[in-house]
Amino acid sequence: MEIYYKSETLRLALSLFIKKKEKIGFVPTMGALHLGHMSLVERALRENDCVVVSIFVNPTQFNNPEDLEKYPKTLENDVALIETLNENVLIYTPNVSDIYKNNISSKKYRFSGLEHEMEGKHREGHFDGVGTVLDKLFRIITPTKAYFGEKDFQQLQVVKKLVEIELLPVSIIGCSIVREKSGLAMSSRNKRLTESQKSEASLINKTLIEVVNKFKTESISELNKYVNDIFNKHPNLALEYFEIANVKTLKTAKRKRKENTYRAFIAVFTGNVRLIDNIALN
Ligand code: PAF
Repeated sequence: MEIYYKSETLRLALSLFIKKKEKIGFVPTMGALHLGHMSLVERALRENDCVVVSIFVNPTQFNNPEDLEKYPKTLENDVALIETLNENVLIYTPNVSDIYKNNISSKKYRFSGLEHEMEGKHREGHFDGVGTVLDKLFRIITPTKAYFGEKDFQQLQVVKKLVEIELLPVSIIGCSIVREKSGLAMSSRNKRLTESQKSEASLINKTLIEVVNKFKTESISELNKYVNDIFNKHPNLALEYFEIANVKTLKTAKRKRKENTYRAFIAVFTGNVRLIDNIALN
């Protein structure tokens, strides 16, 4: 395992793999690595000759300065975790100027409307920031395949659109959500929760599982009411949104149609930490 801080030195190292026509896997992260990230890296190692893990807290995708400032930074731990894999992993942890030079701003994208739903409504400019940084990282790393967790299901769809728009020759691979024993989806933000907040937050996944159980027999408006009622009874968990959406368009579904595939999406504040999760319904 090697650590690279500059795109030029990383490119130099990657050129050896590229010359031999070897496959480069890529796992983009903002650090504070957990078992969810590790499962992406392990899969990438199985499917490629080397894997780049980027660790970069991207300023342009945060609409909330406090969230950016408090985003957990645990580089030493992250490196130690990656070292346990003992394989061909290259860590790329640039500073802001290596990525943005002196222009820290995002490109304005149109992701066929995906960017206006859910996270897009609640985090203005978020997907422009994600698209901008990933476009830059994809061009530096030139991966064969890049791996993303389905916890950020909307991000995964946006990234698939991004590579279409930018004509980037990379396959985008979505990977299942990795959960704590309690069902809580693994997230770097969980590091900001106390033990009791973590256990309260397991209600998020429990509620989604109940929604799956009820999906066949109950209407979408009944399910919306069911979820809102549950969170109204839990003052420590503030529901930001719950939506059942069509997986292709991510548009909110008002009523079920047999031919469509749906997922339930949720965002909840536990104290001032914002958590998201989602689950397949049919
Ligand atoms: O999912 C994340 O951690 C970030 O949005 C990503 C993909 C690393 C881009 O900064």
